[in-house]
Order: sequence, then C-alpha cells, then structure tokens
Amino acid sequence: MFDSGFGGLTVARATIDLLPAEHLVYIGDTGRYPYGSKPLRDVRGYARQLAWSLVEDYDAKAVVVACNTATAAGLDELRAELPVPVIDVVNPGVKALVHTTETGRVGVIGTVGTIKSGAYVRSIATTGVPVKLTSAACPGFVEFVERGQTTGDEVTVLAERLLAPIRDARVDALLLGCTHYPFLARTISDVMGSGVTLVSSADETAFAIRDRLADARLIREGDEPGRHLFLSSGDIDLFRELGAQLLGPELDHTERWAPTRR
Ligand code: DGL
Repeated sequence: MFDSGFGGLTVARATIDLLPAEHLVYIGDTGRYPYGSKPLRDVRGYARQLAWSLVEDYDAKAVVVACNTATAAGLDELRAELPVPVIDVVNPGVKALVHTTETGRVGVIGTVGTIKSGAYVRSIATTGVPVKLTSAACPGFVEFVERGQTTGDEVTVLAERLLAPIRDARVDALLLGCTHYPFLARTISDVMGSGVTLVSSADETAFAIRDRLADARLIREGDEPGRHLFLSSGDIDLFRELGAQLLGPELDHTERWAPTRR
C-alpha cells in the first residue's frame, strides 16, 4: 500500500481491522509529498516506482493505491503493467457515496490534481446513479495533516472558505476524496453541519481489498496476526512519531525507503 505520506494510514487502519491476518507493507512518500499540487505526469512516475518496489522488493501479492491523486494519475497504467491485482480508492469511495445520499445532491473534495483530473466525474458516471455532483479542491488540507495539525482555528478558517461552494450546493453526502482528509473529519463535519454525512473511502476500500483477494484466492487464512512494516522516503523519526498517533500502535516498525530509477 502506498500514499504520498500519512493519508493512506486511514486505509491501512481499516485494512488491518478488517483483515488482521494479512501482512502489510506501507510506503509513505513523505520525501516527495504533496502530490496534489504536482503535474499528474510526475505523480504517475512516483506511483510506478512505489508500486513496482512493493512487488519486486517486498513481494507484494496485491498493491493498494491508497492515494486519490496517484489513482487519478496512474491507475490505468498500474493495472496494465503490474503482475498483481491493483486496488484503488476512487471507485470504492464513489460506491459508498452513491449509496449514502438520499437527496441525490453530493459533494466530493480532493487535491487540485484529483479534482482537475475528472476522475470522480468519470467514476460516478460508471455507476449509472443519477446524482448532482459538486466538487471542490482543498489545497492546504494535506499540509495541515502532514504537520500533525488536525484541529484548531487555522484549519477551521481554511475549511470554511474552501467548503463554501459545497455548502451552497446543499449536498447531503460529502466524499472525502483524499485519504488525508478523514484526519480533518471533525473540522469538516463542524463546517458542513449535521445534515451532511461524510463518506470516507477507507472502509469501502478495505472491503474491496478483501473481495479482490478472495476472487484471486490470495486471502491469508488462519489466526496468526499479520506483520506490518511502514516505510518512508522522508524524515523517519517524524514518520514513526506522527504515524503512530494517526494509525495506532501497529506503527512501531519503520524503515527508510528510497526511490529507484525506473
Ligand atoms: N493522500 C493523497 C490523496 O489521496 C494526497 C496527497 C498529497 O497532496 O500529497 O490524494
């Protein structure tokens, strides 16, 4: 599983809870985050390095792209070239979103790269569910999470400004289309009000992982708990400290990951 940094830990948490026997290798590319403001071509290159490293260096039997921006940038290429199943976060999130709404007015927020890519518009179209989608990019949210600042006045002021178009659209369900955003859920929920249900892709992605592994007969059976390894391309001490706060006690073993030329 990989992400630009700490965001994919929301997906890792849900996966460890649902599939405790599976071994997990997580790479947070904190040395090169944020992805959301970079050209999609660059993000696609990073995603290929990370995914191939998981397969070749860590013997991954499946790869989870726990990053919406990397999914938007390179999912098709990864699926075409990797020799293992590839699970994304966009399509599971959309599935949860269209099931949640009652009014049919829905919102999605994500990084500039994700929203500009149109990945959500395309994914919603494939469901065939007639919803009215309002999208907004939220530059700055990821940086708050990477600094460990998930509540407070500064986050609230930014959220009020960025979420205004979504509030004006009177949605009843809002998809957190960036895996970092569940860490800001309290603030986002306060700003949106109690009539709006926040939808995170983490749980739905964990179900998608289970189903995909089961289809490919790759589920690890038995009661022996899985092993977890967390890697970062950035500051390892920060990764261990903040990562353990965000994920929980499983994040106790961290190592350095360095990109290879691919
Ligand atoms: N967590 C990543 C996502 O889901 C993004 C972050 C970034 O901008 O690095 O899009």
